[in-house]
Amino acid sequence: MRLRHKPWANDFITEHSQYAISNPEQYKGRWHEVFGNHNPIHIEVGTGKGQFLAGMSQQHPDINYIGIELFDSIIVAAIQKAVDLQLSNLKLLNVNAKDLTDYFDQNEVQRVYLNFSDPWPKARHTKRRLTYKEFLSLYEKILIKGGEIHFKTDNQGLFEYSLISFSEYGLRLKFICLDLHQSDFEGNIMTEYEEKFSGKGQRIYRVEAKYMNEDR
Ligand SMILES: C[S@@+](CC[C@H](N)C(=O)[O-])C[C@H]1O[C@@H](n2cnc3c(N)ncnc32)[C@H](O)[C@@H]1O
Repeated sequence: MRLRHKPWANDFITEHSQYAISNPEQYKGRWHEVFGNHNPIHIEVGTGKGQFLAGMSQQHPDINYIGIELFDSIIVAAIQKAVDLQLSNLKLLNVNAKDLTDYFDQNEVQRVYLNFSDPWPKARHTKRRLTYKEFLSLYEKILIKGGEIHFKTDNQGLFEYSLISFSEYGLRLKFICLDLHQSDFEGNIMTEYEEKFSGKGQRIYRVEAKYMNEDR
């Protein structure tokens, strides 16, 4: 994602507190109060400009969505979509995913989406990949038992790495798809990156990974 400094981004975030939640620590364990219902909560980590969550929020009004994005200059586009479409089941957090447990309690999240996460191809940057074992441990701490990660990417190297990382962590892999757009998967909402890369003819990989920590 190309980063352009937007000096007005911080003010924009503050002005749209209905969608962009500042001080999200105060809602840890209480997100149902923010949404005003007890619907399941799905989060997208690295939400970018928000096209995926804007589409999902419209397609699934009974799910509450929260987008996590590191950069204020990027998340403003996601906030603008929520404002324009008046999406009451979408909130956005301008925070780093490494601090997820500061914002969410155990069992508070039903699903994690990772879409076109930065590949960090150099071996010395492995720990930054959002499918690295330390991130898988963070997701496990906030997800319900048997919670799932739904992951898609155009990057074959990151996909292969992630399948191994999920598997070594003990997650069960479901619906591994090596060409999403040629598959019979229904209800796919394209992300900004997905549109860009599939438009160039690149295939899209997808997998669902389930934590095997349910009581037997
Ligand atoms: C390649 S972009 C993909 C954006 C979007 N998901 C899509 O598919 O169009 C990855 C995004 O993840 C964000 N990101 C990367 N690491 C993050 C982290 N630790 N916490 C929050 N956001 C992160 C980046 O800032 C960037 O906007």
